[in-house]
Amino acid sequence: MLVVQTLVELRAALAARRKDKVAFVPTMGNLHAGHLALVREARQHGSCVVVSIFVNPMQFGANEDLEQYPATLEQDQQALQAEGADILFLPSVKEIYPRPMQQQIRIEVPEISSLYCGASRPGHFVGVATVVCKLFNMVQPDVAVFGKKDFQQLLVIRRMVADLAMPVEIVGVATVRENNGLAMSSRNQYLSAEERQIAPLLYGQLQAMAQVLGRGDIAISALQKSMRNTLDEAGFITDYIEVLNPQTLLPVAADDQSMIILAAAQLGRARLIDNIEVTPPLQPDVGSERLV
Ligand code: PAF
Repeated sequence: MLVVQTLVELRAALAARRKDKVAFVPTMGNLHAGHLALVREARQHGSCVVVSIFVNPMQFGANEDLEQYPATLEQDQQALQAEGADILFLPSVKEIYPRPMQQQIRIEVPEISSLYCGASRPGHFVGVATVVCKLFNMVQPDVAVFGKKDFQQLLVIRRMVADLAMPVEIVGVATVRENNGLAMSSRNQYLSAEERQIAPLLYGQLQAMAQVLGRGDIAISALQKSMRNTLDEAGFITDYIEVLNPQTLLPVAADDQSMIILAAAQLGRARLIDNIEVTPPLQPDVGSERLV
């Protein structure tokens, strides 16, 4: 695996592999089994797999965990080598953002960027879209792979790629979970031993809600309230639980063929997000257009 730090080195490495189909996995490092599943998926789509590790300051809010974000570069490199990645791109902040932050160009995908996680983390998705756009311009991949755990992020990126006519195919990969159902995330390591016992409840509740919604016999708002109560009683501070159309991320409508439930909750120092797709048959019990 070739490790490069600058755009010049990256371009030279890619020029040497001009005939290869390039599949790209952008990450912020601290790699776990979820990231490695993305790398394996990338291998299915490209003969040259490029992974980036860059902890992007633009997507962190002022009071967020940028300074504490776990860095495990040596282990990450070993894991990527073992997974067969071809090029690891490790840019510095200066390489990605050569100008002072206030002069940096920004990419905004309007509306969906300000909902749900975007409402709780203002500016987060502008930071994500901007860095992913820059990384795409640097790597120029044919395919890029993202996890479905960050479902809203995946949609923001899909929208950016479509609206800017970027020549890259976006592939979403199913969430990798611990045996107890907890979605793998670098932020899980902020959980105490006690919180680790509680954390799987988030996905447990999503599964229970999806099952009831799949049968189509319960009002969504009652389910949201009940899930919020269960989580909050267990020690979470629930941010949101939303039942949405998976293509638009708007509240699900009576004639939608599929739904996704997105949820975010704070548990101790960790902000946990997760989601579940609701499988048809859907016969939601509503008399109105919108099921909210
Ligand atoms: O999902 C992540 O790890 C980050 O948001 C991403 C896509 C690498 C952009 O910094």
